[in-house]
Amino acid sequence: MSRLFVKKPLGQLLSEAAETEKGLKRTLTAGSLVALGIGAIIGAGIFVRTAAAAGGHAGPAVTLSFIIAAFGCALAGLCYAEFASMIPIAGSAYTYSYATLGELVAWIIGWDLVLEYALGAATVAIGWSQYLNNLLATVFHFTIPFEWSHSPFQVSDAGVHGIINLPAIFILLMLTLLLIRGTQESAMVNTIIVIVKVAIVLLFIVLGWHFMNPANHTPYMIPADAGVVHMNDGSVVDYSQPRHHGWLGVLAGAGVVFFAFIGFDAVSTAAQETKNPKKAMPIGILVSLAICTVLYILFSHVLTGVAPYKDFLKAGSEASVAYAIDTYMHGYGWLSLLITVAILAGFSSVILVMLLGQTRVFYSMANDGLVPATFAKLHPKYRTPYKSQWLFFVFTAIFGGFIPDHIVGNMTSIGTLFAFVLVCIGVLVMRKSNPEVPRPFKTPLVPVVPILGALVCGSMIFGLGEENWLRLGVWLLVGFIIYFGYSVKHSKARKLQQQ
Ligand code: ALA
Repeated sequence: MSRLFVKKPLGQLLSEAAETEKGLKRTLTAGSLVALGIGAIIGAGIFVRTAAAAGGHAGPAVTLSFIIAAFGCALAGLCYAEFASMIPIAGSAYTYSYATLGELVAWIIGWDLVLEYALGAATVAIGWSQYLNNLLATVFHFTIPFEWSHSPFQVSDAGVHGIINLPAIFILLMLTLLLIRGTQESAMVNTIIVIVKVAIVLLFIVLGWHFMNPANHTPYMIPADAGVVHMNDGSVVDYSQPRHHGWLGVLAGAGVVFFAFIGFDAVSTAAQETKNPKKAMPIGILVSLAICTVLYILFSHVLTGVAPYKDFLKAGSEASVAYAIDTYMHGYGWLSLLITVAILAGFSSVILVMLLGQTRVFYSMANDGLVPATFAKLHPKYRTPYKSQWLFFVFTAIFGGFIPDHIVGNMTSIGTLFAFVLVCIGVLVMRKSNPEVPRPFKTPLVPVVPILGALVCGSMIFGLGEENWLRLGVWLLVGFIIYFGYSVKHSKARKLQQQ
């Protein structure tokens, strides 16, 4: 039993970091980490999932959902920053928990991070596909047929069923190829895209402000008597149900838009490729989170002021920002076009960081023997873990190609929230078990911050509802089967303990 909690000694972790330094190149600075963070953060969450949260759960009060989600992220972020500064090596929460909570918990977190990074990348790729179709329609008056740009679970207004989302698979493939070439080049492309992305968010806030209709913001929360909407796939959104109106709707919305913050922790996965990670890590995590929070609250306030929230369930459910501009901001077709182009580039940078984070976590897990060693193999020329990269291309393509965005997006949210809860608890455990380890960045107000972080993230898990709890449960079950079937036999930490 105690072997399940076998821990990886911190000293070993740090010396491994020094060794593998020879493998991965240290090229990133605090500035590039903030760019990496914003690159990962601003994406489908704000440009796709916000409309879904407003339309289905929170209405204009989605701004409050953002505040709850940001609060949870900031608390978890402070815990992340302590870990990231203490254990500056690749692997994210997975690595930290291996040193603190033991192998089983580390496995759960690592397995959970697949939901965060890989399914996150798939969700954004689906959003990319929506905006690509929007661009094609505007510029070339042509769209990729519904069946080739939607999952088999989606039905168009005309009753056409989707087959496969080909554009989503296409963008995943392009970025996988880019990543195999190396992170230095990727980080440079990313920085340019980040500037464009922040600029268009600001542009929409400033220009959209004058088009806000106060009637759309009244009442601010969805009332219980807002009615029923019948969807094309035969499902029904009934606003009188809990989680679809009032404060519970705001909480459910927080679980949905939480997706928009995912990625700030991806910064920590690049620790091994960072110069002076002890200082750069906390800056990278917290600064990128703060910038995005302010932008999101303003952006969602304007979006729900420009278009009534119910629009986002049907006509405006895809490429929602372009829809809102085209429908309610007459004369601003150029803005819609500009935003669409920028979103296509912006989403690419998110997918890039997600895929990068994913393979780096797998790299660590393979080095530890929990997944096959082949996934830690670096490309002979580019020094990138190319086999992991291909594995996750196939995995993300299956989800991006065949599952609708709300399912993949909410699975991403719930998986990440669960990992965050474990990280918050991890900080508390670590303070007790290893008080002597130097912490260049310390989580303030312990134990209040970690406990509150676990509670706020836990309440968003609650808000996401039964279907998503079940999906998380099934995912964890598959993880346990792999862990007990493969990992326990190959774990290097266990082998060391047996010697
Ligand atoms: N936060 C990222 C996004 O919103 C995952 O696309």
